[in-house]
Amino acid sequence: MSVRVYVNGIISDRESAVISIFDRGFLYGDSVYEVLRTSGGRTVDMDRHLDRLLRSGASIALAMPAPDELGRAIEDTLAAAQNPESYLRIIVTRGGGPITLDIREPERSSLVLIAAPLVMPPAELYERGASLAIVGVERTSRRAVDPAVKSGNYLNNIMALAEAKRAGAYEAIMCSPDGRVAEGSTSNLFVARGGRLVTPALATGILSGITRMRVIDIARAADLAVDEGDLRPDDVRGAEEAFITSSIRGVMPVTQVDDRVIGDGAPGPITRRLMELYTRYLADVARGATA
Ligand code: PDD
Repeated sequence: MSVRVYVNGIISDRESAVISIFDRGFLYGDSVYEVLRTSGGRTVDMDRHLDRLLRSGASIALAMPAPDELGRAIEDTLAAAQNPESYLRIIVTRGGGPITLDIREPERSSLVLIAAPLVMPPAELYERGASLAIVGVERTSRRAVDPAVKSGNYLNNIMALAEAKRAGAYEAIMCSPDGRVAEGSTSNLFVARGGRLVTPALATGILSGITRMRVIDIARAADLAVDEGDLRPDDVRGAEEAFITSSIRGVMPVTQVDDRVIGDGAPGPITRRLMELYTRYLADVARGATA
């Protein structure tokens, strides 16, 4: 088991991996990225992650590596790390050059990959459920850098999470500038009410989570109704069930929001069903049995 880092064609261990101080990823968070995992050594939803990476890059006028360069880099880095199950981070920055905000100035984009052993959150969070705090830090407006762009500039989310941690919660939930519930600092949110699932619509101004998308597919295939709509903070606090999703977490139950206990304080039946279905999906990926 090891950590291997790819930087512009060179694979090294974590201590030897270097990038220029003048790289705009370092200076400005001027980058886009993806995080994904493997299941049985096979990457999970790689096509969707690469598609989102390319869309993120296009949204900020970032020159992206050619698909075959990217594909080879991913394969080589995962092979070099030799982990039974991997966490993979793919980062494309706008590269180095003079210190200026002007995006006409940089040299070529930098491609950086980090392959590390997959470490899942503690089992207790899945057994008992996580706690959320609806924080004052807002999700950025779609008229700023659209939250749909998975950029490396996470300071807003970092501050949101810090606020949640001060309140003793596991994850933050941010609202959009118009007061609708948006998403977590690194997760999407679902609630259950009246036997249906509700998750904030993409138009709220959120990241289109790959796990969110997959869970919607899985739920609908199992005849569970999913609405992409509007949620207000009190809808979340008063939900019958809630869970968050992300590539590393999968489906993680939520049993507390601010000072309110969700449902009876244990992961609810719809949540447990989706946890099971998502686990089954990961097992299908491991067997190479997905489309
Ligand atoms: N981030 N929303 C935000 C703001 C996120 O940063 C993430 C995940 C998600 C969930 O998306 P996905 O299902 O595609 O992982 C939603 C990654 C995992 C991270 O920063 O670690």
